[in-house]
Amino acid sequence: MENGYSFEEYKETADWLLARTEQRPKVAIICGSGLGGLAELLSDKSAFNYKDIPHFPSSTVQGHVGQLVFGKLQGHECVCMRGRFHFYEGYDMYTVTFPVRVFFLLGVETLIVTNAAGGLNDSYDVGDVMLIKDHLNMPGFAGQNPLCGQNDDRFGVRFPCMSDAYDCDLRALARQTAEEQGCESFLREGVYCMLAGPSYETIAECRFLQTVGADAVGMSTVPEVVVARHCGLRVLGLSLITNKVVTDYDSNDKANHEEVLRTTQKRTQDLQKLISHLITKI
Ligand code: 6GU
Repeated sequence: MENGYSFEEYKETADWLLARTEQRPKVAIICGSGLGGLAELLSDKSAFNYKDIPHFPSSTVQGHVGQLVFGKLQGHECVCMRGRFHFYEGYDMYTVTFPVRVFFLLGVETLIVTNAAGGLNDSYDVGDVMLIKDHLNMPGFAGQNPLCGQNDDRFGVRFPCMSDAYDCDLRALARQTAEEQGCESFLREGVYCMLAGPSYETIAECRFLQTVGADAVGMSTVPEVVVARHCGLRVLGLSLITNKVVTDYDSNDKANHEEVLRTTQKRTQDLQKLISHLITKI
């Protein structure tokens, strides 16, 4: 399917959901690897397994929760994706971003995305949370942009602006919230670079990314943000720095998924707290 889904398919999915929940969230949250615990904090939940939702992609990865959860966070309605679709799993860009257009048709106005990322900026520590202020869309450079193909004006314009992709006011709100909670000491702000993965970066690649101004590197988020901005959603992006990338040929450190998961577990509570307080101010 050259152009991905039809407008009618997105609409059928949205209508199916609207018929099964009374909630009308204005905020959607995409939870990154190991950050899905946020969905458990919701009250008045209605949860849908991806496999039961018409047209919704379903995850084939074992042990991977695939659920769309509607509920209230601190009394504020939101819809939360537990488990996202990664390009490296073999999904095409239309599939990776399918839920975002469904959110738009549900009436969502703000998208919060979280991810686990490797720290490229030397001043970052493991466990820092980086507010994403901009991105480098490397798969986009290589011809993998989710907006390739015929444009549907019902979602947005042919050539959408990306210079304001990460909302300035939402970032200010996140900083203010972090200060109120005393967690500003590990809050950073920087540029997120997406690579397709699944292999981690070589040393030369890490050095290259540092040179071109990336502060953190990961394998997600950017396609969803591009599609969200296309249809006018405001975006807040948060990267949890789970490990520092290797840039030294004498180092014996190796990027590994276990370290990523360990750091995520350590910081996940703080990140959940930050998001649940922030949502009351949106
Ligand atoms: Cl070091 N690289 C990439 N591409 N993704 C990551 C990561 C590193 N750490 C967490 N996710």
